[in-house]
Amino acid sequence: MDLFAAMQQRSSARAYSERPVKRKDIEELFNYAGMAPSAINMQPWQYVITYGEEKDRLVRSLLKARSERQVACGPGSAEPLPEKFVQRSRLAARDMKPAVEGLGVEFNRFVEEGSCSFYGAPIAVIVTIDRRFPSLRYLDVGLSVSYLLLAAQAKGLATCPIGLITAYAPTIAEVLNIEDQKEIVLGIALGYADENAPINQFKTKRAGQDEILYWYE
Ligand SMILES: Cc1cc2nc3c(=O)[nH]c(=O)nc-3n(C[C@H](O)[C@H](O)[C@H](O)COP(=O)(O)O)c2cc1C
Repeated sequence: MDLFAAMQQRSSARAYSERPVKRKDIEELFNYAGMAPSAINMQPWQYVITYGEEKDRLVRSLLKARSERQVACGPGSAEPLPEKFVQRSRLAARDMKPAVEGLGVEFNRFVEEGSCSFYGAPIAVIVTIDRRFPSLRYLDVGLSVSYLLLAAQAKGLATCPIGLITAYAPTIAEVLNIEDQKEIVLGIALGYADENAPINQFKTKRAGQDEILYWYE
C-alpha cells in the first residue's frame, strides 16, 4: 500500500477481531514509529506495549477506575475553545452516533468505556514522554505516533488513538510500573479491525483548506 492510500484509508477502529498480531509485525511497526524526525534527533517518545494477560489486567483496572470516577470525553482544555473547534467535535460525534445507536448503548458510555477497554483490541499501547522535556517536544511524539498509525494501516492493521485514558494516568502507571518521571500522553488500540462492525463503517470528515490554510503571497 502506498503512503497516500494509507493516509486516505486510515480511520480509527472501535471494534477489533480476535486475530492475534504477530510479535514480529508489532516490532516492525515500532521500527517505523522510530523513524520519525525529532528535534536534534532526541526521539523523546517511549512506548509501553501490552497484550495478552497484561493488557487484560490494564483494561480491568481502567474500567474499575472509571466506575469509581467517571471522566467525560472532552478536549481537556482549561478554557472554552472557539466555536469552530467545538463544532468540529460535534460533527465527529454526529458521524459516529448512528452506528452506536445500533449497538443499544448510550453514546458517551460507549466512547468512555470503549476507550478504557481499548475497544477490545488485542494490543494496548501506552505512549509516554519524560516530563523534563518542554511541551513543544510533545510534537515530536505526535510525529512518531503518526508514523505508527500509518505503518499499521499499510500492514493491514487498525488503530485508535485514545486520549481519554490519560485521565486515569495514575492507575496506568501503577499497573504497568511506569515511573513518575514519565508522563502518559496517549493510549493506542492496535489490532485487526472487525471489518463488519457497523462502528467501523463511518468516515469522519475534515475541514476545508479555506479553514486551515493562511496564504501570504
Ligand atoms: C490525541 C487523540 C486522542 C483521541 N482520543 C480518543 C479517545 O479517547 N476515544 C476515542 O474513541 N477516540 C479518540 N481519538 C480518535 C479521534 O476521535 C479520531 O481520530 C477523530 O475523530 C478523526 O477520526 P479518524 O481517526 O477516524 O480519522 C483520539 C485521537 C487523537 C489524535
